[in-house]
Amino acid sequence: MTRGFRIHTALVALPLVLGLAWGTPTAAQNADTGPAVAEVAISTAADAPTWSRDVAPIIQRSCQQCHRPDGIGPMPLLTYEQTVPFAPLIRYRVQQRIMPPWHLDKTVGIQEYENDISLSDDEIATIVQWADAGAPEGDPADMPPPVEYPPAYEWELEAELGPPDFVVRSEPFTVVANGQDQWWDHTVEFEGLAERRWIRAAEFKPSYPLGVKVVHHGHVRFVQDGYRMELVGMGVGKRWDKLPDGMGKLLLPGPAQISWGLHYFPIGTAVPDDVVEAGVWLYPPGYEPELSSSGEQRHLIDGTFRTGPRARDLIIPPHGHLTLEHAYVLDQPALLQSFRPHMHMRGTAMSMEAIYPDGRREMLSRVDQYNHNWQIAYIYEDDVQPLLPKGTVLLFHSQFDNSANNPINPDPDQWVLFGARGVDEMSHAWVGVTYLTEEDYQRLLRERTRLASDEP
Ligand code: HEC
Repeated sequence: MTRGFRIHTALVALPLVLGLAWGTPTAAQNADTGPAVAEVAISTAADAPTWSRDVAPIIQRSCQQCHRPDGIGPMPLLTYEQTVPFAPLIRYRVQQRIMPPWHLDKTVGIQEYENDISLSDDEIATIVQWADAGAPEGDPADMPPPVEYPPAYEWELEAELGPPDFVVRSEPFTVVANGQDQWWDHTVEFEGLAERRWIRAAEFKPSYPLGVKVVHHGHVRFVQDGYRMELVGMGVGKRWDKLPDGMGKLLLPGPAQISWGLHYFPIGTAVPDDVVEAGVWLYPPGYEPELSSSGEQRHLIDGTFRTGPRARDLIIPPHGHLTLEHAYVLDQPALLQSFRPHMHMRGTAMSMEAIYPDGRREMLSRVDQYNHNWQIAYIYEDDVQPLLPKGTVLLFHSQFDNSANNPINPDPDQWVLFGARGVDEMSHAWVGVTYLTEEDYQRLLRERTRLASDEP
């Protein structure tokens, strides 16, 4: 036992000695003796990352948007005093990649996302070393200036786009204090716009302070004579959709309905008459975007039987696993903006691949640490948006784990079937799609090729 411990200590200590205490070979020579190890530990702590200089900038960029007094995180992480009691827990969650919530497989597929809050390996190492060294504060003069956040009752997009052009509201709904999931599906009349306009962004805003805690996810759709368009879909961690410049979603003039699909989850306190708002930002009147987006489109993965009720293929036995696969053939070229997997508590992984008409197969995005508590849209950076020719197959793959190994499995002894409750299952992907004409496809392809050949 003792011997094993000693060897382990020496192995850990050696690289630290070489890296940090270069020129003091006595420490290395004595690394498996007690006093020298203690010496090494002291020199490590002295050179360890500090809160003010190394850790605070990471926490500002990747944590504070949720971990602030108004945010959805359980505790604020703005100051050293607020953060230091959580150092061991932060170390664990960051190293396990549980926090910040970003569930993509980093080893395959596209890795450039506009909303990427994940930490690099170096940043994770910095936080781990900081916690291991006793979470030192360092020199407060090294602190970066604090980040200003808009209050949670304001539109997140307002700082960038100004106030929305119009706002629609759901009918009030009372969320009970205790119980299971609650749904509030209804439509509200919408007087409509005088002329056709193009949407550039939309945001879903739960009420404050309680609505933000009870709304689990929701959809707002524009419905007019059989034309249905998703204005915005919201899930914990995702409130808005903003299209790249030059891309819009068409809003036809005249009266219409706004269809609300709201999914609430009780929090132990009744929330009476909750109202959700959706704000819409338009391009200026008369503006015609180059590309017309369809917004987020639902791609079912569980509905492989085309007749009868949805998802008779989704049956997971107690302690069992299931994999589902479904393919879509693009009958038009397309440009993809985002990927947002949706499953429930047994869902663990989902991928989206492209099989090109020439047979080449490419992994676009894969989530390998899916967690039902989060509904994250992975938004591609503009110049890596998948550009797919007509005839491409989009292949989706979802995986479920009903065993006790799944940490959020409420009961591995149950059969799990398709259904809308969190304890039932379903599987689909919301994919932001812009269908293209052949000319637009060729034009974008030429631009991509030019960009690629410009690169050094
Ligand atoms: C998108 C919002 C969001 C971001 C970004 C985020 N968190 Fe969290 N965090 C949450 C929420 C919500 C919870 C509570 C639910 C849970 O435990 O998953 C949480 C829980 C935690 C916990 C557990 C607290 C406890 O008492 O159990 C720790 C530790 C934590 N976060 C640290 C971090 C760190 C460190 C970062 C950045 C590297 C970060 N979080 C980024 C929302 C976020």
